[in-house]
Amino acid sequence: MFIKLIYPLFVVSGKNKALPVHSMPGVFKLSLDRIIKQLDILVKHGLEYILLFGVPEIKHWHGNCAYQENNLVAQSVKSIKNSFPNLKVITDVCLCAYTSHGHCGVIHKGKKVIDHKLTLEALSWMALSHARAGVDFVAPSAMVQRQVKAIRLALDQGGCRKTKIMSYSAKFASNFYGPFREIADSAPKFGSRREYQLDYSDFKSALDSVARDIKEGGDVVMVKPSLGYLDIVRQVKDKFKFPLAVYNVSGEYTMIKKGAALGFWEEKEIVSELFTSFKRAGADFIISYHVKDFLGWRKNS
Ligand code: PBG
Repeated sequence: MFIKLIYPLFVVSGKNKALPVHSMPGVFKLSLDRIIKQLDILVKHGLEYILLFGVPEIKHWHGNCAYQENNLVAQSVKSIKNSFPNLKVITDVCLCAYTSHGHCGVIHKGKKVIDHKLTLEALSWMALSHARAGVDFVAPSAMVQRQVKAIRLALDQGGCRKTKIMSYSAKFASNFYGPFREIADSAPKFGSRREYQLDYSDFKSALDSVARDIKEGGDVVMVKPSLGYLDIVRQVKDKFKFPLAVYNVSGEYTMIKKGAALGFWEEKEIVSELFTSFKRAGADFIISYHVKDFLGWRKNS
């Protein structure tokens, strides 16, 4: 299958930690040493790309751990690239796992809306810290207007012209993110992400958002989630003919896993069907929690 597979990984601080995510069977939050061990196997199985999320121990109102000097993700990138120089590393750039209120940007105390300017600054610092650690792509997922432009500028001015941007361009406010929020305990404590993520009935804004991200300097655009949104994937591919990723998200993964556990379908068969449908729709990259198992099945077949 000529499509690039991206495996998401969640890093926590400490040593020898593998914390199960109950809502997502087979997914763990891992300390860096355990990530390296896991990658030893996966790279041998042909893994070429990972998407790395940081899960901080402590959350602050302004999400400071996301962008402070030598943060957990920057340290992890350095060490992963040292051990696996050919593995392409992508990092999530968003504040929701780091802020105590759970929103994706900076909010002034007592206020409810995101401060656009400060959020762009924080995201730019976060992206630059990952870039300086040697990441290949940063993946801004906060859905803040002009985030790609701001991050591109910060990377260029910070001496990281070669770092690429994979932008979560068409990210819909979806029910399918439910299980993910257990991972990072990142459900918003007030309000809703509908204020900045796209309405799922609105395909026009999705196309506008992709156009804007390409214009602002994105190198790969993304549609998220996947299953209910393959019409968008096809339209984006046809309209822009641009490198395109699709994110097969947590709720979609859990559905497949639970169904397989109940004997409704063969997991291996159904994942192959899904991945084929993403490719048919026009995706060049698939981000999926199934990638770990998929590589093992492929190797043994
Ligand atoms: C953070 C982020 C989310 C996901 C990826 N990055 C959660 C959200 O927007 O609530 C979801 C991934 C998944 O469900 O697998 N901005």
